[in-house]
Amino acid sequence: MTGKFITLEGIEGVGKSTHLQFVASWLRERGYSVVVTREPGGTPVAEQIRSVLLEESTDEIPPLAELLLMFAARAAHLETLIRPALSRGEWVVCDRFIDATYAYQGAGRGLSSEVIEALAEIVQQGLRPDLTILLDVPLAVSLQRRAAWDQRDRFEREQDPFFARVQAAYRDIAAREPERVRTVVTDRPIEEVQADIAGIMSNYV
Ligand code: TMP
Repeated sequence: MTGKFITLEGIEGVGKSTHLQFVASWLRERGYSVVVTREPGGTPVAEQIRSVLLEESTDEIPPLAELLLMFAARAAHLETLIRPALSRGEWVVCDRFIDATYAYQGAGRGLSSEVIEALAEIVQQGLRPDLTILLDVPLAVSLQRRAAWDQRDRFEREQDPFFARVQAAYRDIAAREPERVRTVVTDRPIEEVQADIAGIMSNYV
């Protein structure tokens, strides 16, 4: 039996890393074999592409080039890590995937969803997350948390209107695909947030 593919999504400052670890531990405690990974990245070559995408440079990356780099990293990640793990029956818990591309490169950068869809078809060949947990906070909370970070990458330096578009796109995806995408509001006590995530997972496994 193949494993399941779970992704976590959300704008900057929603607490994705903490909750990703929680999802992985929750599954492992129930005996599932889990691979935790991230996008862009997850394999040596995809991590190199991640550096190109996230590091500040004097050379701007045009939006279409950014999109193609995201998909180049995804192609390597799928081929080398995700598909083999799923075939072995392992569960893959991934920090971001295709929804981030629609949100950031589509809504954020203004690239057409038809172009993204066409590339997704070529690269993913029908592979979609089985479950996506969308972590959400008010934009002001995200802004406050981002402002406190010492170091910010190419995306984290974007301004509020960019993140407003990204967040709206994520919420649209969740509204269109309520079966796959479950939203959890995270600016609450962590015990409450994790109880909600555990509830989603319990219904799912
Ligand atoms: P992270 O810092 O949450 O790991 O994500 C790295 C950045 O990459 C984040 O700002 C969102 C961005 N990103 C995209 O713009 N498009 C994508 O398809 C993915 C996977 C990430």
